[in-house]
Amino acid sequence: MALVTTERMFKQALESDYAVGAFNVNNMEIIQGIVEAAMEEKAPLILQVSAGARKYAKPAYLIKLVEAAIEDTGLDIALHLDHGEDFDICKKCVDDGFTSVMIDGSKHPFEENIRLTKEVVDYAHSKGVSVEAELGKLAGIEDNINVDARNATFTDPEEAAEFVEKTGVDSLAVAIGTSHGAYKFKGEPYLDFDRLKAIHQLIPDTPLVLHGASTVLPEFVAKCNEYGGDIPGAQGVPEDMIKTAARYGVCKVNIDTDLRLAMTAEIRKYLCEHPADFDPRKYLGPARDAIRGMVQHKIKNVLNASGKA
Ligand code: G3H
Ligand code: 13P
Ligand code: ZN
Repeated sequence: MALVTTERMFKQALESDYAVGAFNVNNMEIIQGIVEAAMEEKAPLILQVSAGARKYAKPAYLIKLVEAAIEDTGLDIALHLDHGEDFDICKKCVDDGFTSVMIDGSKHPFEENIRLTKEVVDYAHSKGVSVEAELGKLAGIEDNINVDARNATFTDPEEAAEFVEKTGVDSLAVAIGTSHGAYKFKGEPYLDFDRLKAIHQLIPDTPLVLHGASTVLPEFVAKCNEYGGDIPGAQGVPEDMIKTAARYGVCKVNIDTDLRLAMTAEIRKYLCEHPADFDPRKYLGPARDAIRGMVQHKIKNVLNASGKA
């Protein structure tokens, strides 16, 4: 039982066409719900912390909670920085004991993304920490993205190969049509699998990462709306598409929005049905159970990762 890097997890995932869930964490109940599910399913697990999570909960609390989860469950867990925007935040997390960091240089021109990523790789690798980088831009919600728009924003396979070679990065987040949040597509969901296959063919040993991979399950949106929410037109990535991505080199699947929806739906329902209650444990307990249920569903039915830890 330990904090581990993603190296072994990804090697196994790449060989066996399954994916490791990387779940965003912001508080104790979220962490507990996720690790309970991973323990139940004997699944490999990445817990990831965004800059927003660090601001909300403070880094020391999150790190100690993850350490407590390892002590309590005996699981091996990778602790990962999600979307580090500069060298300093990556260095801070490496120094704080994270076992994996993401440097997100996707907003920079290609050469600057390479330079920044290489700087982080050199530092992180000297401390035994894995690095994820990103190339290409996650699409926003658009009708019918045409070929020109795709070529301008999605990850270019040749560039991906050059990027990995020049930076020595351990894994690469690719843009093939996903986006963050609950509103991913206006019309039919579309991911550019030809592009993903081309990237995987050129860099078959590099684990690929899919950000914005929540499915936004309709029953959870409906439950939020039934109990006073207002989330119209939300739509995510169909679960079958995530399974397909795992066959073409995607080893890490990032999920945050689905946890938010599961937790919020449960809290809304509880508070509507128990207007006299005001003990937070009464609704945070069921919310934690809802997180566990969602993560278990993902590990079993979408990521194919049960029994792989
Ligand atoms: O990449 C986005 C993740 O869902 C984290 O979101 O920046 O609101 O913590 P956040
Ligand atoms: P979702 O918003 O689809 O859950 O994506 C989360 C993510 O990519 C975190 O980096
Ligand atoms: Zn992301």
